[in-house]
Amino acid sequence: MRAVCVDVPGGPENLLLRTVPRPQLKDGEILINVHAAALNRADLLQRRGLYPPPPGESDIIGLEVAGTVHTLGPGVMSPWRPDDKVMALLSGGGYAEYVAVPEQLVMPVPSNLTLCQAAAIPEAWLTAFQLLDFIAQVKEGEVVLVHAGASGVGTAAVQLIRLFGAVPIVTAGSAEKLKLAEEMGAAAGFNYKKDDFVQGVRDFTQGKGANVILDCVGGSHWEKNVSSLAMDGRWVLYGTMGGRTVDGDLLGKLLSKRGHLLTSLLRSRSLQYKADLVKAFSRTVLPHFSAQPASLRPVIDSTFNLEDVAEAHRHMEANRNLGKIVINLNKQI
Ligand SMILES: NC(=O)c1ccc[n+]([C@@H]2O[C@H](COP(=O)([O-])OP(=O)(O)OC[C@H]3O[C@@H](n4cnc5c(N)ncnc54)[C@H](OP(=O)(O)O)[C@@H]3O)[C@@H](O)[C@H]2O)c1
Repeated sequence: MRAVCVDVPGGPENLLLRTVPRPQLKDGEILINVHAAALNRADLLQRRGLYPPPPGESDIIGLEVAGTVHTLGPGVMSPWRPDDKVMALLSGGGYAEYVAVPEQLVMPVPSNLTLCQAAAIPEAWLTAFQLLDFIAQVKEGEVVLVHAGASGVGTAAVQLIRLFGAVPIVTAGSAEKLKLAEEMGAAAGFNYKKDDFVQGVRDFTQGKGANVILDCVGGSHWEKNVSSLAMDGRWVLYGTMGGRTVDGDLLGKLLSKRGHLLTSLLRSRSLQYKADLVKAFSRTVLPHFSAQPASLRPVIDSTFNLEDVAEAHRHMEANRNLGKIVINLNKQI
């Protein structure tokens, strides 16, 4: 099968399209014929050798795909049949024509979505759902500040916060990105490059602060995050795009807010945890993608062919995407 390989960690030019053997199915796995895969920020780190796959997982990049069921491995219990349209959360292996996935991480494609749209759901939406529901336990009426509001995870988070009856507010780096986040449901948006989002959050919440902050920025925002947090608020760190080190009175300021600092990573979680997450998401969120009218939608920025995967990585690395970047393998259904 064709797959994108990285022999030497480095820039996008090190992504090589090659022919490699198809994955062998283990007990309880399903082989998916991949029609589309989506990019995630973690893919850029993995390409540079900074985010290796968990032990035993494919070293091919790619955390989410959509396609059709090809073969069921030994011991598969779920009633999938060949050619069923599916999407899946992966620990790796997505940038390839076929991928083997534990059956618990396979979901049906919502009826009104294309496979390119569906590929943009698993990693981004399960991450947002996990952070909001399993980690922060967001409640109705709470104000949630989402950084990178036009990112793949951010556009999912804003829609989920509305679904949960809470109030999303965002930061982003351009007017265009803020506009997208507002179209997705954000009640307010702040350009962190130009404006003081602390003041924006204070004004919006009449001085109370945000109950929850979804933070994929880390270092450069830490002080503003503590200042923006409500008393007893939950600050959920899930990325460090703005640096990993902190210099200053973080603990004192957090303590004065009685703040909770929570962190999470999805990829390194156990299969059981991911299976529980997929089950909860499938029950409570997935139906909203195919409702009439649909109340949730994956936001697609652009679609690239597999041959142009390096260009897709450059696009993301330059922070140009609004929503998700999809790789189309151009297969007929
Ligand atoms: N913990 C987990 O399990 C998990 C899972 C999935 C994703 N993530 C994390 O979630 C984040 C979003 O991922 P994604 O794939 O959705 O990303 P994405 O679509 O590529 O969007 C990332 C956006 O973040 C903003 N950004 C980049 N550097 C920044 C900085 N230094 N300060 C502030 N904003 C910055 C940029 O938008 P602006 O133009 O608005 O600055 C950029 O377009 C990443 O940090 C990723 O690692 C974590």
